Amino acid sequence: MCNCSPVYEDLKGKTLLITGGTGGLGEAFCREFARNGANLCICYNTKRKKALELQSQLEKKHNIRACVFQLSQEDHKSCREVTAGALEHFGQVDCLINNAAMEPQKILFEEASLDYINRLIDVNIKGPINMCQSLLPHFRKRRKGVIVNIGSIWGQTGRRGSIIYGLTKQSTTVLTRMLAMEYAVYRIRVNSIIPGYFDTGMARVMNAEDLKIIKKSIPLRRLGTGEEIARVAAFLCSDHSSYITGQQVSVNGGAHML
Ligand SMILES: NC(=O)c1ccc[n+]([C@@H]2O[C@H](COP(=O)([O-])OP(=O)(O)OC[C@H]3O[C@@H](n4cnc5c(N)ncnc54)[C@H](OP(=O)(O)O)[C@@H]3O)[C@@H](O)[C@H]2O)c1
Repeated sequence: MCNCSPVYEDLKGKTLLITGGTGGLGEAFCREFARNGANLCICYNTKRKKALELQSQLEKKHNIRACVFQLSQEDHKSCREVTAGALEHFGQVDCLINNAAMEPQKILFEEASLDYINRLIDVNIKGPINMCQSLLPHFRKRRKGVIVNIGSIWGQTGRRGSIIYGLTKQSTTVLTRMLAMEYAVYRIRVNSIIPGYFDTGMARVMNAEDLKIIKKSIPLRRLGTGEEIARVAAFLCSDHSSYITGQQVSVNGGAHML
């Protein structure tokens, strides 16, 4: 792995709004964008303390500005309030990373309760829709903006015991394509990143035995790191990817090849 990550100069001074900034991958996204000089709106759901620590650490280390918002993305009003708060604080938002999601439980399909199904749909499907609806009027007015939606390999390949989760994560691909098509005329780009297996965050839902089997099945024979996926997000939000829209970028060590 290289220790020579590029710095995208055009991200400096831009504002990134990230959902799930307190999660395993979310933290890696925050660190990478701060390293590139971007200001951050860090959204958390329950981990306020972690969000505040991240805010103060990154502000000091990278001389950027960051603010913290509580977000329940299944709630349209909460998304609108966060967006309004971010715009009030920074005057503009340049990039949105729809990263937050509810983690899967391993459960036989027929035993998934209606409550569990509804919650997954609300958080993982309606959440990104709510955030896009809240921010797009601002992007459209400025005739610029970038959205990156985070999917999952389990929405591409499937996994026993995670059917509803896989369905909800697959939805990010459709949302990405449709938005990219509809909003290209306003010079708004929309892409998705499809993570494979990472050494942080939701990987905790797998036991050691599962992880061992998974690592063996990955052509690169290891889990990915947060930095490896965050670098892709920075590229997709920078002007260096100015001709890329409507695409899904798989970051998975070869675990699934299209
Ligand atoms: N890690 C992996 O190996 C992997 C693999 C494939 C796909 N992914 C995808 O990558 C993304 C990030 O995953 P992760 O591994 O970083 O997960 P994680 O560590 O479990 O973090 C999830 C994040 O989502 C936030 N969140 C949960 N429910 C929410 C709600 N109702 N409203 C707003 N925010 C909410 C959490 O906030 P609090 O912590 O503040 O409660 C947390 O910041 C997800 O979309 C996931 O599906 C991850």
